Amino acid sequence: MTITPAPPPLLELEHVDAGYGPFHAIFDVSFAVEAGRVLTLLGANGAGKTTIARVCSGLVVPTKGSVRFAGEELAGKPAYVYARRGIVHAPEGRSVFASLSVEENLHLALGRGRDKADVARRVSRAYELFPRLGERRRQLAGTLSGGEQRMLSLSRVMVDEPRLLIADELSLGLAPIIVDEVYATLATIRDAGTTLLIIEQHVDHALGIADDALLLAQGEISERGDALQMRAAVQRMLTNQ
Ligand SMILES: Nc1ncnc2c1ncn2[C@@H]1O[C@H](COP(=O)(O)OP(=O)(O)OP(=O)(O)O)[C@@H](O)[C@H]1O
Ligand SMILES: [Mg+2]
Repeated sequence: MTITPAPPPLLELEHVDAGYGPFHAIFDVSFAVEAGRVLTLLGANGAGKTTIARVCSGLVVPTKGSVRFAGEELAGKPAYVYARRGIVHAPEGRSVFASLSVEENLHLALGRGRDKADVARRVSRAYELFPRLGERRRQLAGTLSGGEQRMLSLSRVMVDEPRLLIADELSLGLAPIIVDEVYATLATIRDAGTTLLIIEQHVDHALGIADDALLLAQGEISERGDALQMRAAVQRMLTNQ
């Protein structure tokens, strides 16, 4: 019998330190995300969640440690290499072209040089994920509601068919009912096989979709576990405050 070695985790950070100039923001961060799983980073304001997200997409270069994607070392490489490997950062806010239609926004996100059939397939996939955008394909993006614009900016990164989607405060400033919709869409994206790294102020939403969670305190991982264990850890932290 031959034993096939297990594939490496999709994303693996090992002993990562990073910061901004002389400011040291995260210390000795190690974790792994297996393909198809959902990890959420929890922690107080300033704990280092966004910094870790930026390390994972190559926007912040670690001063120490390693960032491996599907087994390949990426630490120190420029951010476009991370993007080419299939790591995308969902933009905060509404990064859409207001004076263009929904469909034009999607075409622009796809860039040039793709054949027509590929563009059509990706755009119709986006409408499957975001049916409301399909209904509004001819509407100018600037006239969409805030929640719809957030969906459009998410759909603009989804047409790239990322392997790892990093979502940092995707629901910031949205009405609760729209937050539910954003999370339902993230669940569909997960079910389609995309690995997710989620940072979210709404802890319940984050733990609702996550398989695993890390709790950060002052730049270090203070607890880790599956979503259920971490629900209890967060509860403990809140009652001790
Ligand atoms: N561009 C920057 N330049 C200098 N320091 C920064 C920069 N971005 C973040 N920091 C600092 O790094 C630390 C971690 O910040 P980070 O944004 O990662 O926290 P966070 O957990 O995402 O917080 P929040 O929940 O408020 O978004 C903070 O002390 C912050 O002030
Ligand atoms: Mg942040």
